Amino acid sequence: MVAKNNAYFSEEDSVGVVNARMEPGTDPRLAQIMEVVVRKLHEAVKEIEPTQDEWMQAILYLTRTGHTSDDWRQEFILLSDVLGVSMLVDAINSRRPNGATENTVLGPFHIADAPELPMGENICLDGKGEPMFVHGRILDTEGNPLEGVKIDVWQANDEGFYDVQQKGIQPDFNLRGVFRTGSDGRYFFKAVKPRYYPIPADGPVGDLLTALGREPYRPAHFHYIIEKSGFDKVTTHIFDPDDQYIDSDAVFGVKESLMAEFNLINDESKAKALGFDVSYYDVEHDFVMARL
Ligand code: BEZ
Ligand code: FE
Repeated sequence: MVAKNNAYFSEEDSVGVVNARMEPGTDPRLAQIMEVVVRKLHEAVKEIEPTQDEWMQAILYLTRTGHTSDDWRQEFILLSDVLGVSMLVDAINSRRPNGATENTVLGPFHIADAPELPMGENICLDGKGEPMFVHGRILDTEGNPLEGVKIDVWQANDEGFYDVQQKGIQPDFNLRGVFRTGSDGRYFFKAVKPRYYPIPADGPVGDLLTALGREPYRPAHFHYIIEKSGFDKVTTHIFDPDDQYIDSDAVFGVKESLMAEFNLINDESKAKALGFDVSYYDVEHDFVMARL
């Protein structure tokens, strides 16, 4: 039933009454979005039939989510992350041909001005943690190496903290760097074995996870933003498949194609050749970029 825009509100025609109030000159995309949002929201309310008290709890929850956000912390993004909405929006906006590297969540710990480093450099500035050698190639979908690709990498340390979470404890720009591929498309750098960590769980999002019996943890990973003009920008991770939280990532970021083997190399001469002591972890992973 299509309501006239002067119709009185009723439970049966609540959607029609509200949407009919939109001016015909409303921006078409906004009109489309609001029509769907009102329809789905009313549908949810009709199915749930909240008490007044429950509805007020929902309002106060969202109010608290806003109050927990500031220039440094975005609790609404975190809420979108734990509800799977961030991953869904990302999936819709990064559909790629078969074989191209898949995207996953950006997360809040990327910083725009990490230093550009010579290929091979160690991004670990404080010498803490188990050393890792991270390497592979950047290819197009035909398997050709890509030159001049910008690789921005960042990771948590062996205790599960990013440098920006431990100002004054970790050096600035610890465990981040920007590299550029040469004509062979290869990338390689030294790092440390990252550890799983909890997403910020001391606010309303953490309370929701607790109430639902869900873990706040993300399995160990390296973050990448991989860019070259003419190609679809890749925002992704590689994951340690042996991590205890690999099947319960709090933000649903894990994809099968993003698993990388973290191999322990117990070979002193190989370790020494890389500037490590006796052993290290090796991880090899190729990234495939799709042309725009
Ligand atoms: C991260 O991997 O850095 C992250 C992603 C989503 C929420 C919190 C952290
Ligand atoms: Fe992360």
